[in-house]
Parts: sequence; structure tokens; C-alpha cells
Amino acid sequence: MDLAGKVAWISGAGAGIGRASALLFARSGASVMCADVDAARAEATARAIEETGGRARSQSVDVSDEQAVREALDATAGELGGLDVVFNNAGVGGAGWDRTNAINLSGVFFGLRHGAELLAKRGGGAIVSTASIGGLGGLWSVFASEGPPDDGVAAYVAGKHGVVGLTRQFALHYARRHVRVNAVAPGYITTDMTDRIRAAPGVERAAAELHPLGRFGRPEEVAEAALFLASDRASYITGVILPVDGGYTAR
Ligand SMILES: NC(=O)c1ccc[n+]([C@@H]2O[C@H](COP(=O)([O-])OP(=O)(O)OC[C@H]3O[C@@H](n4cnc5c(N)ncnc54)[C@H](O)[C@@H]3O)[C@@H](O)[C@H]2O)c1
Repeated sequence: MDLAGKVAWISGAGAGIGRASALLFARSGASVMCADVDAARAEATARAIEETGGRARSQSVDVSDEQAVREALDATAGELGGLDVVFNNAGVGGAGWDRTNAINLSGVFFGLRHGAELLAKRGGGAIVSTASIGGLGGLWSVFASEGPPDDGVAAYVAGKHGVVGLTRQFALHYARRHVRVNAVAPGYITTDMTDRIRAAPGVERAAAELHPLGRFGRPEEVAEAALFLASDRASYITGVILPVDGGYTAR
């Protein structure tokens, strides 16, 4: 029970990596606030947790709205009696420049800004954000393309590099106030986000082969890494970007 007695806020908890993390964090003893722009999906995750004996609530939050993020974090502390872990996980792929950066970069910044301050005032805590292998290098396109890069891919890579920078900056800033700040950097994971890639058999194989382990990762495998960074087992770890990528970034 790595998170026994703790309260965790998870954005993007309605699907994919966020949902898997909400379920795992709850199984590990945390009370979980499932935040998502899709209220019904957030509610479904919270219900799944409660049905298996865990404790959870849900919130409808668009992380690109700073005021909404601040209120959501405050409400979590009020409703669940504390706040120990903030997981800035919500993100999109395939959107244009402005929308991608509003969610993937500004959304994480808002979670860090308000989450870190709230945790510091409470005496400490842990923040995890979801970066990407696209935050540690450019993404090799698995689709044939000509002309300029798709602005969604460019925004995705720029934003995820930004998440890496923000993670390091906030880790330094909050170290003496006992808030650890880290990120996971997933490779290709079997979630809705990679549907388009996995729909085309040749493309799916090519994408899988980019990872030395030869396959996509599962959302549960990313959740395990996030749990580690969120828990006291990682008590001497701050400012790191942990690849969960089947060896993609080792090449
Ligand atoms: N799937 C991958 O291959 C992969 C790889 C690297 C990084 N990531 C990152 O992992 C994170 C989670 O992605 P996923 O693969 O689980 O995707 P997903 O599409 O399965 O889930 C994303 C969730 O975020 C929610 N969301 C979207 N915009 C939001 C907003 N503005 N505010 C609040 N919630 C919002 C969606 O409703 C959805 O429930 C993202 O940051 C993504 O960039 C994914």
C-alpha cells in the first residue's frame, strides 16, 4: 500500500494512462480525485474504484483553464480531506498548435503552479506529470509525409519538451519545501491516442519496432512508474524524467 492514507488528484483520469493510474493509486491506498474534461468518463473511473472498495470522487475540469485547475485542486483538498499527490496527466494528440499547447503545456504548468504551492503549504508532497518520448527528442513519423511537419506533431513535441523543462524547474524551486516533482515519458501506449496508428497493421508493426522491446506499452505499465514516483519509495528522487518506453530512448 504505497499510498496508504494519501489523497491523489489525477487529470485525464477518464481514459488510458490516467484511468489506469487512478485504479492503481486507489488499490495502493489513495483516495483519488478523478479529473477529466469528460465528466461522464471521470465519473465512470471513480465508480469503478468505489465498486472495488476504494475511495474516489470525480470532477469535470478542463486543464487549459487555469482558474478551473486551481478550483479543482482546492476542492479536492476540501472533499477528500487533504492533498498529497498531483498527477498532471491529461493531454491530447492530433490537435492543432494552439489547442495542443493550451492543454499539454499550459495545462501542466497550471497543475504545477497551483499544485506545488498547495502541497508546499501542506508540508510537502509529490507531483508527477506525463511527458513523452516526444519530450526527449523528435518523433520519427510512422506515416509517410511530405511538406512541412503536421503542426499537431510539432506542437506535441514542443509541448512535451516544455513539460520536461517545467518538471526540472519546479523540482528545483520546490525542493526545500519538500515537494518532489518528476515526470514519466511514455513510448507508444495502447490507448485511444494511438488508435490511428494501431488501426493500420503495417504502421502498427513499424511503430512497435521503434521500441527495442518490440511492442507498444500498456497504460498499466505507465501507471506503475507514476505510482513509484508519487510514493515515498522515491523519496530521494526529484527532477527526473523517467522513460517508460520499452527502450525507445536507449538507442
Ligand atoms: N498513448 C501514448 O502513446 C502516449 C505516449 C506518450 C505520452 N502520452 C501522454 O499520456 C497522457 C495520457 O494520454 P493517453 O494516452 O492516456 O490518452 P487518452 O486519450 O486515452 O486519455 C486522455 C484523457 O485526457 C482527457 N483530456 C483531454 N483533454 C483534456 C483537458 N483539456 N482537460 C482535462 N482532461 C482532458 C481525455 O478526456 C481523456 O480521458 C497524455 O499527456 C499523452 O500526451 C501518451
